[in-house]
Amino acid sequence: MPASSAESHLSGLGVIRALERRLAEHYGMRYALAMPSATTGLLALGLALDLQGALFVTTPLTWGGSLAPWLMLGGTPLFSDVDPDTLTLDPALIGIEQQSGARAILAVDLFGQPCDDEALRKVADDMGAWLIVDGAQSFGARREGRASGIHAHAVVLSFTAGKPLDVGEGGAVLTNDRDIYERLIWHSQHPTRQKLELGLRVTNEFAINGRMAPTIAERILTEIPTALSRVRVRQRTVSRLLVEESGLDVPNLGLVEPSWFRVTARLVAGQRVTGETLHPFPLLPLPLNENLSLRSGGATGSWAVASREAERRIEISLDDRLLDRALSTDSHTTRHQGGVPA
Ligand SMILES: Cc1ncc(COP(=O)(O)O)c(C=O)c1O
Repeated sequence: MPASSAESHLSGLGVIRALERRLAEHYGMRYALAMPSATTGLLALGLALDLQGALFVTTPLTWGGSLAPWLMLGGTPLFSDVDPDTLTLDPALIGIEQQSGARAILAVDLFGQPCDDEALRKVADDMGAWLIVDGAQSFGARREGRASGIHAHAVVLSFTAGKPLDVGEGGAVLTNDRDIYERLIWHSQHPTRQKLELGLRVTNEFAINGRMAPTIAERILTEIPTALSRVRVRQRTVSRLLVEESGLDVPNLGLVEPSWFRVTARLVAGQRVTGETLHPFPLLPLPLNENLSLRSGGATGSWAVASREAERRIEISLDDRLLDRALSTDSHTTRHQGGVPA
């Protein structure tokens, strides 16, 4: 790598800064920090918010990677139940007394369904806790016309394999809070960047390496328009093919605009789906409380809705070839109309 490029890599200038600006603009948030993965982003947030050993409220329905960084910091999850349609944390079920002592709420946009970040933020504020949204699966999703997760203290993204924007590996953290941003830099960025942005003489050489490689940043910048178009195509495919034509009960259509990272449906009595429609590698997880119980001998909280929904849903495959065809038609149509893909 040429010296100037190495320099901008460590200082967060050049293409890193360009990507961070683009992500901040997309989310309408003040600060974005490019990271090597969502895992690093969550770990850096755990350090920045002093969550070592903290109790945190979270959803039993997610990929274990949501919790891994804070478990590593000695944190304890307290599971709270989900909304049966979106499968994301139900704000109404997080009672203040029940959750007293929790220092953070970790909500997850499961399968790209935006959680109710606005209501969750009110609960977090009442509890005096942080709200962090794990948006690893929801790039491109919207709620009430705006990007998913923006009411949180911070949103974490992933650009790893299979995600709505997939460049192999990559992540980001977004926040509106200057103090959180500065703390993230202190805990996860190179001293060159710490000096540049924080104006410090004494820097933190013990920070973790939370830098994104510039080659990855460049690819993400290039891929953003295609990824967003693809999400719009998935949304149309789900509503047209799966719901209108196949009559599947895919909950929550219309209320929010998910990225549809994964699509699940509830089968009604007598309904069948063909083998081709079923996803070959269903991801619908066991509620994590069961997993965690196996690991550490116990989990606390409530998860009745999560267990019921995990039991009764099936995962639907969105045929990639179909999506690619629809995508090429979509960009053709949009060009023809003189517009810019959403
Ligand atoms: C919900 C969720 N959270 C966190 C992660 C971790 O993301 P990464 O692989 O970028 O660290 C993933 C994906 O793997 C995920 O799906």
